[in-house]
Amino acid sequence: MKRYGEWSSRLAFILAATGSAVGLGNIWKFPYMTGEYGGGAFVIVYLLCVALMGLPVMMAEVMLGKRGRNSPVNSMRILAQEAGYSQLWRILGWSGVIAGFLILSYYSVVAGWALAYIPEVAKGTFTAVNMMPQNEIAGFVGSIFNGLVENPIRLLAWHSAFIVVTMIMVAGGVQGGLERAVRFMMPALFIVLLILLGYAMSTPEFMKGIHFMFDIDFKSFLYPNCTEKSCEWSGDGLLAAMGQAFFSLSLGMGSIMVYGAYLPKHASIAQTTAAVVAADTLVAILAGLIIFPIVFSNGLQPGAGVGLVFKTLPIAFGQMPFGSLFGTLFFVLLALAAWSSAISLIEPAVAWLVETGKFTRFSASVLSGLMVWLVGILSVFSFNLWSDVKPLSMFSTFENKTFFDLIDYLTANIMLPLGGIFMAIFVAWLMKKQIVIDELETTSDNIGYRIWHFLLRYVTPIGVGLVFLNAIGVFS
Ligand code: TRP
Repeated sequence: MKRYGEWSSRLAFILAATGSAVGLGNIWKFPYMTGEYGGGAFVIVYLLCVALMGLPVMMAEVMLGKRGRNSPVNSMRILAQEAGYSQLWRILGWSGVIAGFLILSYYSVVAGWALAYIPEVAKGTFTAVNMMPQNEIAGFVGSIFNGLVENPIRLLAWHSAFIVVTMIMVAGGVQGGLERAVRFMMPALFIVLLILLGYAMSTPEFMKGIHFMFDIDFKSFLYPNCTEKSCEWSGDGLLAAMGQAFFSLSLGMGSIMVYGAYLPKHASIAQTTAAVVAADTLVAILAGLIIFPIVFSNGLQPGAGVGLVFKTLPIAFGQMPFGSLFGTLFFVLLALAAWSSAISLIEPAVAWLVETGKFTRFSASVLSGLMVWLVGILSVFSFNLWSDVKPLSMFSTFENKTFFDLIDYLTANIMLPLGGIFMAIFVAWLMKKQIVIDELETTSDNIGYRIWHFLLRYVTPIGVGLVFLNAIGVFS
């Protein structure tokens, strides 16, 4: 019996992988993190991580899936066996399953915000900004966001709705729906972003937004806590930028691996991957170019935190012509983009459950959905009932972090880069060279292959390792 489908073509894989990569990470997380870490320096480190680690690791991850042809847990087991190494490599698959659960648990809550904004924008709530003095606009739009997240029942309802729909989509299988949805969704999202960029260019502080994103100030990036007497070095920004690169590209936990498993036997990994990385990066940069001009034109703070997108874009939708229409469309598309990412977060677990032979696709989806939903409640309450609960505050790294913050930190900054290191090591050091070359359909003297191999073999493990050590203060 064939357990799952195969993509109908290489384009179908590109669409699905892009669907996985492009999501809240690009439009919600990238701008607010860029804002929190001060702009240009964060952006350039992020871009370097994407190019020097993200791209090579994505190729490695696709290849692991394409050769393993199973869920990440079993692919890793099979490939380790083939290469003559310990079956413990399947732990890599396991940690991916866990990371996927954890990420989706809070991802769903944020996606719920996007869902909640659909009716809000549609009914014209934000057109009220046109009747307000300029200095009251930001406060008003912010109060709508705070009103939402402070209400546990509303958050829980939208979180539940998001998970239920995700599970229905996952139960339906990889092909068909997803392929068709992403095919129209991505171009549509791109067009709406371009329209928003047009609006951003019309705001008075457009150039200030551009400067914020591209003026590189390493000093305040690496020494964020300066007082008159002394400056304190911090590795947090570097770690955050690297984590964001892995997060945005969906790397290090098996999403891309499991999609690679559905790739037709003869499909070029390098070109396919490059297309996905380019699309993902473009959307993130576009989101930043839209949001920061709005931030500065309305006296907002770039470091406003997780609500940044929800406190800025509604101003645009209130002010621009046909704003309610575009705004509704935008949040619908954002929710769809979140769904196509969410599916990839849970697919490794579902694929594995099905492989055990004890579950149907349907029961596997229901079970995983239920678990994610439960863990998600921690994040729902992080914004209201438990907003003062900071479980690990005794450790300085985790000071002032709610459950939501902790889960995000643990997954993006630790689990994904670690997963990436191990994938890189497995492919570049342990797999038989000939197998790797065959899978990539290249030759050992191909220059692209050699650069890729070098990046994977040295740059990724050493780079991630240095950023880790730096973050725990070894170099300060
Ligand atoms: N990359 C997606 C986004 O930017 C989220 C995502 C999907 C993800 N699959 C992943 C993140 C796997 C990390 C690992 O919204």
